[in-house]
Amino acid sequence: MKEFEKIRKELIARAKDMDEPRGVLRSKELRVLYKVIPTLPADERACFGKKINDLKIELEKIIAEREAAVADEAIEPIDITAPMGINEPLPQLMTADHGSRHPLMIEIERIVQIFNLMGFDTTESRQLDSVYNNFDALNFPPGHPARDGYDSFATAEGFLPITHTSAMQNRILRTGKKKLEECGQIATVIPGRVFRNESQDTTHEHTFYHYEGVFVSKDATLGQMMAVLRAFFETYYGQKLKIRTQPAYFPFVEPGLEFSIEKPKRLGGKDDGWLEMLGCGMIHPNVLREAGIDPTKYRGFAWGGGIDRLVMLKYGIDDVRHFESGKLRFLKEFR
Ligand code: DAH
Repeated sequence: MKEFEKIRKELIARAKDMDEPRGVLRSKELRVLYKVIPTLPADERACFGKKINDLKIELEKIIAEREAAVADEAIEPIDITAPMGINEPLPQLMTADHGSRHPLMIEIERIVQIFNLMGFDTTESRQLDSVYNNFDALNFPPGHPARDGYDSFATAEGFLPITHTSAMQNRILRTGKKKLEECGQIATVIPGRVFRNESQDTTHEHTFYHYEGVFVSKDATLGQMMAVLRAFFETYYGQKLKIRTQPAYFPFVEPGLEFSIEKPKRLGGKDDGWLEMLGCGMIHPNVLREAGIDPTKYRGFAWGGGIDRLVMLKYGIDDVRHFESGKLRFLKEFR
């Protein structure tokens, strides 16, 4: 009897503990117990047999409970694409600090929306592109010093992390050609991440954001471009602005201009404080031709400028490096 009690305790412990508890029901010890029955005096057999049966029922119960717990765990839905915390119990999820959208992403959406309202569609630029798209297709002659103005990184395979969203111009023009012939215009705004191999300070980052605009029609003019840009800046900053252009050289436009706004007073600007916001101009005939668009039939304007500085001015941010820093104290201000 003492022996039985010892085996019983051990089997229960194993059923509670083993990885595969069902194995207990097939265990050697249980078989030994059954073998004991015929060796007992006849009047004790039934009683002993019942004890073994009760033990089996007890073990079955423990095993069934464990299996049910495992099954519960298995059907708990797990969303592997979810941000950290979504699979946690709800009260914790609601109170925990689970991050927010990056201020630049919020602003890119606002910028794009303003152009969308003016009839521009949107395409995002690629982060890695060919030297052809970044330079050749934009009328930079091979070996031309203007290429050196862009301190580019390069991959071993000869690709570039793009130095400007202008790298998308050829693609936009080429794919937009059909639309141009059918609907009379291409109007696209292209936000994207750009990269320059330059040293960093409060106004320079190696990784930042540009927004490019491309417009082509039979009769596009610089005047239209100025109107579009003025409307954009005044909407973005929510006030009337003085604007100014100066001649500038970019191989892919002719004429090429630098576009400045007078620093908005509301944003701490003093009189006469001009801020250069972007480069722009009439798309060079070589750029149109390279994309298969006849420059004697169509003309266009384009612009490209930095998003970071646009946003810095809006919120009075003093250091461009905050954006890529991942500093929570900075990011939380934009929640
Ligand atoms: N991509 C030029 C830069 O990074 C800016 C630019 C100038 C874009 C003139 C344009 C343009 O589309 O027409 O400096």
